Amino acid sequence: MNILVTGGAGYIASHTLIELLAAGHQPIVADNFSNSDSAVVGRVEKVAGVNIPCYEIDVTDYDALDGLMAEGNIDGIIHFAGYKAVGESVEKPLMYYRNNLGATLTVLECMKNHGVKKIIFSSSATVYGEHNQVPFVENMPTSCTNPYGWTKLMSEQIIQDAVASDPELSAVILRYFNPVGAHSSGMIGENPKGIPNNLMPYIQQVAIGARDKLTVFGDDYETIDGTGVRDYIHVSDLAKGHVAALDYSAEHRGYEVFNLGTGRGTSVLELVKTFASVNGVDVTCSIGPRRAGDIAECYADVSKANSILGWKAALGVEDMCRDAWRWEQNKSTM
Ligand code: UD1
Repeated sequence: MNILVTGGAGYIASHTLIELLAAGHQPIVADNFSNSDSAVVGRVEKVAGVNIPCYEIDVTDYDALDGLMAEGNIDGIIHFAGYKAVGESVEKPLMYYRNNLGATLTVLECMKNHGVKKIIFSSSATVYGEHNQVPFVENMPTSCTNPYGWTKLMSEQIIQDAVASDPELSAVILRYFNPVGAHSSGMIGENPKGIPNNLMPYIQQVAIGARDKLTVFGDDYETIDGTGVRDYIHVSDLAKGHVAALDYSAEHRGYEVFNLGTGRGTSVLELVKTFASVNGVDVTCSIGPRRAGDIAECYADVSKANSILGWKAALGVEDMCRDAWRWEQNKSTM
C-alpha cells in the first residue's frame, strides 16, 4: 500500500518508515520539520536502500495537504504529526490544541476529499489518566492531566465520530506506552532538542558526559523500589505494531483502539542499572522530588494487540539500552 506518513521524520515515525518498507509498503513522508531533521529521511533511505518521496508541508495547512493528496494513490495514512512536550503544552495550551487538533481535522477532511479510508493514529497511554489500576486495558475510562494528553484523547474522539459517520472508514488508534531505544543500524534514533524531558534520553546524555547526573523524580512511590514504574517498549517493536495495525485495517472497517507496550513494568532505578551494566558505563543519579503529574505505575495489558493484531513486542529492556547507547554514541557523527 502507498502510505502517507505525517510527521514522518520524527522519532517513532522514522522507525515506522523502515518497518513499512520491510513489509513491502511504500511510505510517503509529509513533515514540516519543525521538530525534526529532514536528513533523517535520507538516513532511512540508506538503511532501507530505497527512495522515499518526501514533502515539506505542514499538515495543518489544508491546501498543502489537499494538494499533495490530490496527486493520488494514497491507500492509507499513519498520522504522527503533532507537538508532544507535556510541559510546553501546559504553558502554551492554545498552540497545542490548534496544532494537534487542526492536524487531525485536516487529515480527516483531506481523506474524505480523496476517498482515503484507512487511518492509523498515534495516541498515548497518557489518556488512562491518574485513577485507573495497572495494567491499563483499552476499555478503561479515560482522562488527561495536561493539554498534550487532551489533544490525543480529543483526536481519538474526533476520529471515532468520523468513523461513525462513514461506514467505509477504518481507524486504528494506537496507545503507546514508553518508546525508547533506536534502530539496530545505529543510523536513526531520538534526538531531543535542549534538555530531555524523558528518562531514557536523559540517561543517555549523562552516560556520554553531556549532563552531570540524572535526577530521579521521587523514590517514595508504592513500587518495587520506590521509583516510578513504566512500560518501556523498543521503538522498532512499536514501529512493527503500526504495520500490524495497517494489515488489520486493510481487512476491517470501523474504529479500534490498541495498547502498544510490552506488558512489563520497569522502575527508574532498574532502567538506570540495566543501562549501566549492559553498556559498561556510569550513570550518576541523585534522588529529587516527585514530578508534578507523574503516576506511580503505568504498564499495559497487551492481550488485545497480541490476539487481534497478532503483534507482540519481541525486544527486552537490555536490547533497548544497548541500542539507545549505540545511537547516542553515533548521533553526533550523523
Ligand atoms: C511522558 C509524558 C507522557 C508522554 C510520554 C512520551 C509526563 C508527565 N508524561 O511519560 O504524557 O506520552 O512522556 O514519551 O511528562 N524520570 C526521572 N527523571 C527524569 C525523567 C523522568 O526520574 O529526568 C522518571 C519519571 O518520573 C517517570 C519515568 O522516569 O517515572 C519515565 O518518565 P518519562 O520518560 O518522562 O515518561 P512518562 O512520564 O511516563
